[in-house]
Amino acid sequence: MPRGSRNVAAGQVVEDTIQPTPALSERTLAVSCSKFIAAWGSRAWPPIVHKVLPHRRPGTVGSAPRERRLPPRGATGACNVKITVVGAGKYGSTTAQRIAEKGFADEVVMTDVIEGLPQGLALDMSQSRPIERFETKVTGSNDYGPTAGSDIVIVTAGKPRKPGMSRMDLLTDNAKIVGGVAREVAATSPDAVVIVVSNPLDEMTALFQRVSGFPTERVMGQAGMLDTARLADKVAERLGVSPLDVDAITLGSHGDTMVPVPSRVRVQGKPLTELLPAGDIAQLIQATRDGGAEIVSLLKTGSAYYAPSAAAARMAEAIATDEGAIMPVCAWVAGQYGLSGVYLGVPARLGRRGVQEIVELDLTDSELKDLRAAAEAVRGKQADVDSLV
Ligand SMILES: NC(=O)c1ccc[n+]([C@@H]2O[C@H](COP(=O)([O-])OP(=O)(O)OC[C@H]3O[C@@H](n4cnc5c(N)ncnc54)[C@H](O)[C@@H]3O)[C@@H](O)[C@H]2O)c1
Repeated sequence: MPRGSRNVAAGQVVEDTIQPTPALSERTLAVSCSKFIAAWGSRAWPPIVHKVLPHRRPGTVGSAPRERRLPPRGATGACNVKITVVGAGKYGSTTAQRIAEKGFADEVVMTDVIEGLPQGLALDMSQSRPIERFETKVTGSNDYGPTAGSDIVIVTAGKPRKPGMSRMDLLTDNAKIVGGVAREVAATSPDAVVIVVSNPLDEMTALFQRVSGFPTERVMGQAGMLDTARLADKVAERLGVSPLDVDAITLGSHGDTMVPVPSRVRVQGKPLTELLPAGDIAQLIQATRDGGAEIVSLLKTGSAYYAPSAAAARMAEAIATDEGAIMPVCAWVAGQYGLSGVYLGVPARLGRRGVQEIVELDLTDSELKDLRAAAEAVRGKQADVDSLV
């Protein structure tokens, strides 16, 4: 099939399959950061930009002739970015791996309190580079020295849920952990953009910002990308279509007051409300709200990390490449949607300075009411986090 001739849904970034022909040099195939940024600077809706990465043959190592080798992975080329992942547990290590393999950062540093864990994982990840075709430097450390000067910090440190627990049950323990991390990050990477993922998400994001003293636009939380992906996947399963054909969004909190937005869900461009009866949509929305608990109850120890790490890595990519993509994140609202002074899941444009803009969607009256209820539910809890550190 000729390059560029595939049918692609609006808003998708598509990399053409890279053919290792002698005629195409590695230099020709590399897409520079600046070209990528120029291409994406003006992109707007839909919020989640799916990256369709066709299957690639594993790279050959050793004696393969030079012209037969595949170029490194990484659609954008590395962007002179250093990323630290705090917490090298399931979420943290998988996020580090995804970022390293995507190839947009020069360096990924993992740090954790468990001696040897981040170092061992970093060595293991590094040794996959010749096979998986990426060049990102991956290191691990038990202190913050090697993380100094990071451009992006992803905070995954903290306890995950056990079956029967709500995210709020983690509040006291994780507040102490995230508060300590915020002090270390403020001292060692004072200019970083921070993505918090530790739960309870909305409260931990607010707490990190308060303890670090960072401007609100440089501290955000990951939840909406994950909840949106869960909703899109459930809609796709229900209708028997590709998940890449579904555009969805969820707003609000990462908890009981999550606000999936059915009026904005499109399947192959058609409104979901025209494809399913209201009762079926309500079931999908409830399943999305319960999506994390469903996985926790199956795993029995620990919580989800494949989809969550994909969400955090995608946010980091949008920040690192300054692409201006709009995605649902936990961000500080200051007047948008008639709400102020609270961290809440809203669509935001991301770039190298963090949250560049909060985007106001047209919501139905009932969706707007739910979003306002979510804001009030988390506002009080966020105000209380100061007493926990
Ligand atoms: N926001 C979301 O969408 C979302 C999704 C899934 C999980 N989570 C949350 O992410 C967090 C991590 O989940 P996980 O599955 O990786 O748990 P995990 O237990 O596998 O890993 C947590 C890691 O944090 C480390 N840690 C603890 N205190 C630390 C500190 N002070 N400094 C550095 N590291 C420290 C632990 O040693 C451990 O390795 C949990 O709070 C979980 O609830 C959030």
